[in-house]
Amino acid sequence: MRIGSVQLPSPFAIAPMAGMTDTAFRRLVKRHGGCGLVVTEMVSSEGLIRGIDRTLEYAEYTEEERPISIQIFGGDPDKMAAAAQIVEGMGADIVDVNMGCPVPKIAKHNAGCSLMREPAHAASVIAAMTRAVSIPVTVKMRAGWNDDERNAPTLAKMVEDAGAAAIAVHGRTAAQSYTGTADWDLVAAIANDLTIPVFGSGDCIEPEQIVGRMQAGVEGVLVGRGVLRNPWILSHAADLIDGRTPRPVTPEERGRFLLEYIDLLVLERSDDARALTHDKWVINKLRALGSWFTKGLDNGSHLRTAINSASSLLELRETISAFFFCAHAETAR
Ligand SMILES: Cc1cc2nc3c(=O)[nH]c(=O)nc-3n(C[C@H](O)[C@H](O)[C@H](O)COP(=O)(O)O)c2cc1C
Repeated sequence: MRIGSVQLPSPFAIAPMAGMTDTAFRRLVKRHGGCGLVVTEMVSSEGLIRGIDRTLEYAEYTEEERPISIQIFGGDPDKMAAAAQIVEGMGADIVDVNMGCPVPKIAKHNAGCSLMREPAHAASVIAAMTRAVSIPVTVKMRAGWNDDERNAPTLAKMVEDAGAAAIAVHGRTAAQSYTGTADWDLVAAIANDLTIPVFGSGDCIEPEQIVGRMQAGVEGVLVGRGVLRNPWILSHAADLIDGRTPRPVTPEERGRFLLEYIDLLVLERSDDARALTHDKWVINKLRALGSWFTKGLDNGSHLRTAINSASSLLELRETISAFFFCAHAETAR
């Protein structure tokens, strides 16, 4: 599968998730296989243009993550074009536009999902960006703003005409936020209607669901919360689609994932200015992942509570080791 000139090794991708899909997490998921594309957390176009350090950090990636898409948000065509040029200059393979974020802080600035309410303007943002860069420009949208404005099929066509190289649709409206279920019939209808590749997004928490969605007609699937719960989900979906039986993940492997995540985070953002708060930042990142990663695990709520009460990196590592290594060894005895 290709997005413009970019060849993807697999049609499955990690969905962009603010606060969650940092470079360390993306690298670890990618190392387990089956992942054809990673997308950064959303990055402010204004922040990129002004060169704000914190914004630039959200856009950081490593070579092993390629192909990499940097997702930006904003509503001004000229600024989005300038931000796209910065993203291209940073060496990204793809620049993605966030037209799905329902959070008022973003939406009130005519960015995120509120762009869907002004389709002609949204298309002009994409046209300005495609004129400004030679890497593919893609769009991630929702089904629409609310039940009265489910205009993803119209907007999808408009951004295709404006030069978008692929789109992703999360089959919920902004008003739904994360309630209800994603409308995959709508996503499949859009995929049918467009020439460019269409990714679907929403509610895939088992690898079988990813494969099922592919069979319904989309070219690719973006998986968000399912990857946070099970970072092996894309690799398992790739196994299924190739006719292999996925290998079960052992408790030790799950434990190792969290310990390796800590190790990678410890090396990130560790400049002198933040030395005092760095451990706290790593602990908070683990708490955020822990709230998803522990879902569906035997005794998962126990682990979640223990991670949330760990107050040092040493305690955090010991908590994880005790849960995944010692407890398992005891039951095996
Ligand atoms: C914590 C969280 C953060 C998210 N951040 C973003 C984001 O920065 N950009 C974006 O386009 N979508 C974002 N999303 C939406 C996801 O990319 C995805 O479309 C949505 O969660 C539905 O897919 P899922 O059911 O597989 O999670 C976020 C979702 C979650 C749960």
